[in-house]
Amino acid sequence: MKITICKNYPWQEKNRDLVIFLAAKQKGLSKELKTLPDDLKKQIGDLFKQGDFQAALNENLLLYHPFYGRVLLIGLGEIKELNNFLWQQAVGTAVIILQNKKVANFSFYVPAALKRKVKVREATKFLVKGILVAGYQFNKFKSKQEESLPEVKEIYIGGLNSPEIKAAQEGSQEGEVLGEVINRARDYGNLPSSHATPGYLVSRAKELAKRYQGLSAKILHREDMKRLGMGGILGVSRGSKEEPAFIVLEWRSGKSSDKPICLVGKTITFDSGGISIKPSSKMDEMKFDMAGGGTVLGVLEAAASLGVKKNVVGLIPACENMPGGGSYKPGDILTTISGKTIEVLHTDAEGRIILADALGYAKQFKPKAVIDIATLTGACVVALGNFFSGLLGNNEYLIEKIKKASVLSGERVWQLPLHKEAREAVKSEIADTRNITPGFSAGVISAAAFLEYFTEEYPWAHLDIAGTAWDTKGQSWRRKGATGEGVHLLVEFLKK
Ligand code: BES
Ligand code: ZN
Ligand code: ZN
Repeated sequence: MKITICKNYPWQEKNRDLVIFLAAKQKGLSKELKTLPDDLKKQIGDLFKQGDFQAALNENLLLYHPFYGRVLLIGLGEIKELNNFLWQQAVGTAVIILQNKKVANFSFYVPAALKRKVKVREATKFLVKGILVAGYQFNKFKSKQEESLPEVKEIYIGGLNSPEIKAAQEGSQEGEVLGEVINRARDYGNLPSSHATPGYLVSRAKELAKRYQGLSAKILHREDMKRLGMGGILGVSRGSKEEPAFIVLEWRSGKSSDKPICLVGKTITFDSGGISIKPSSKMDEMKFDMAGGGTVLGVLEAAASLGVKKNVVGLIPACENMPGGGSYKPGDILTTISGKTIEVLHTDAEGRIILADALGYAKQFKPKAVIDIATLTGACVVALGNFFSGLLGNNEYLIEKIKKASVLSGERVWQLPLHKEAREAVKSEIADTRNITPGFSAGVISAAAFLEYFTEEYPWAHLDIAGTAWDTKGQSWRRKGATGEGVHLLVEFLKK
């Protein structure tokens, strides 16, 4: 993709499809829009006067102009509410409308009102990220190319004066890495489970390690897991013909004495529920139950590509959860890597079981902090819906840092309490823990309490992305399917 950054506004150039950003409740046009041709200004003024266009966030109207061709008006909402993420949405809305009209080259600019609220670097970062995220379509399995829309080929970013251009270039580069990595993570989630198998993710991890110096990949196979006593992941994977794999990715770019941050991603490449099988409606969506691992793979790629000066370890326990003659069963007791045991009361609460092994494995890295990210509970979707990820943990300082990264990335999180009643609820009468908590209704919280039991002397936080990793309907600024949730959030977390 070609990106050009320059001073001119797009309407100062010939033959471009124009996107014009307008703010709500403003008196008159902004300074830069005063340089639009008179007929266009009049048309926009009339639309406002009639109340036919009010510039609410993502409101849009497509006009045609004899000189430019398409002129797309996009609302930014009220300037006082505008931030980097809402700006990304406005940009994405424009991209989807134009791409649906087979446009592949986009001309944008950074509105002056936005510059007053967000630094130029951030504005261009979210602009480029927003274009890539919006332009993404999962069309690998369309046999007829003409059925898919053109890919974004060229972006032109205008409206930047000379002192701003350097910041814009930096922002644009970072936005491009983020957009591309997020889209790769979306690919992992959208791919059918028969394609995105544990073995496939292993090959992607190895590819990354080959591509980036300083990034290494180690793979634990079934025999290694047996030797280490990873009874959790071995138990969950027993019903599947797919070989399980435990991927360890290490990015070492901080001081050698710096303790690493460990990122752990739930990677169930297909969650049928196992013997406690799920209902068939929407079971297809359970191909994205590996989104946590896809995100961790993405974060390590982004860290390497951006050269983030930190030590980061990615842990990706990957397997399928299937019913079969060999499956683990309700009533089984599994012994995890740390020796702690789990009474399995429901084979569909499998994510926490494989994470128990990964959290135990993390101990050897003496991590500064461990963050796990997982499509863990349907209860999280009920509690927080599709726009906020659940956030819990045992360390308020770490949680605050994640909240800050949330503001910087636009990926929203909401903290839920982890309390002693939940810790009580996960205790089993015949083993150390049980993987479900009958009678305890807050499923997001009891799942986190279960995970906490397997953490080892390190600050830890848990992100439940069950509601945010998959977009069932699609937004004006993003098409439906896997979202790559967590990639940008965790990259911002690492950078700080
Ligand atoms: N992968 C699911 C959680 C999930 C549900 C993710 C919907 C995304 C969308 C998880 O493994 C699961 O099945 N959890 C059970 C736990 C229950 C048996 C305690 C659930 O949430 O129903
Ligand atoms: Zn499940
Ligand atoms: Zn699951």
